[in-house]
Amino acid sequence: MAFSDRKVFVVGGSRGIGAAIVRRFAAAGATVIFTYAASVTAAVQLAGETGAQALQADAGVRDALIAAIRDAGPIDIFVYNAGLLVFGDPLTLDADEVDRMIDVNVRGAYFGSVEASRLMPEGGRILVIGSDTADSMPFPGLAAYVLTKAAMQGMARGLARDLGPRDITINVIQPGPTDTDMNPADGPRAAGMLGPMAIKRYGTADEVASLTLYLAGPQARGITGAMHTIDGGFAA
Ligand SMILES: NC(=O)c1ccc[n+]([C@@H]2O[C@H](COP(=O)([O-])OP(=O)(O)OC[C@H]3O[C@@H](n4cnc5c(N)ncnc54)[C@H](OP(=O)(O)O)[C@@H]3O)[C@@H](O)[C@H]2O)c1
Repeated sequence: MAFSDRKVFVVGGSRGIGAAIVRRFAAAGATVIFTYAASVTAAVQLAGETGAQALQADAGVRDALIAAIRDAGPIDIFVYNAGLLVFGDPLTLDADEVDRMIDVNVRGAYFGSVEASRLMPEGGRILVIGSDTADSMPFPGLAAYVLTKAAMQGMARGLARDLGPRDITINVIQPGPTDTDMNPADGPRAAGMLGPMAIKRYGTADEVASLTLYLAGPQARGITGAMHTIDGGFAA
């Protein structure tokens, strides 16, 4: 029950890595609120299973995201996990889809983190789920996605300076290939993903959640403005 006195807000918690983070914080005694956009059934099921509160709020719509965070009151631990992946030749990618990805992955991460910090007490934590591809991009077709994940690095470095005086940390967790709906271990791109990995095994969402809980815990109070890669050596 290490987080029994903590309120945790997870943006994008209905499936995959976000759902694993919700499960782990709930099991550790935290009061957990999570948002989702489309996966109503998964969100309701997860809320029932964990006791967490599920809120439908599109992270790509600034006012909706900010209202959901504001309504939650002071948040001790804010996790921005919502993410979209648009893949393909940049010359033919749908520009609206790229814009939508930037709205969810970048604008939501920034405005959400800033809003969460507004009422966050001393000792608060902001964790943003980025990607190891921000450090190493061995494949074509992912330039726009990598743009969004690299932006999180600069945001975390900057906000660490803004929030440090209030004893609030902000860190980026950078998973590599992790078995979820976004990147299934048995999907068409899986074999290629394993190529650059030192440990040739997809990670699990629960492994990423473990690192998230470590960085949210008291032992990590001196870690801020930093990137934490968990990718089986993909970007080594
Ligand atoms: N899996 C990987 O290999 C991998 C590797 C590196 C980084 N990542 C990053 O890890 C994060 C989680 O990825 P994942 O693999 O767990 O993906 P996923 O299985 O596709 O799940 C994405 C989650 O984000 C939520 N979400 C998406 N758009 C949203 C929006 N507009 N508003 C609110 N919630 C939204 C989804 O909820 P709804 O279904 O309700 O929309 C879902 O809960 C992402 O930021 C991703 O870029 C993943």
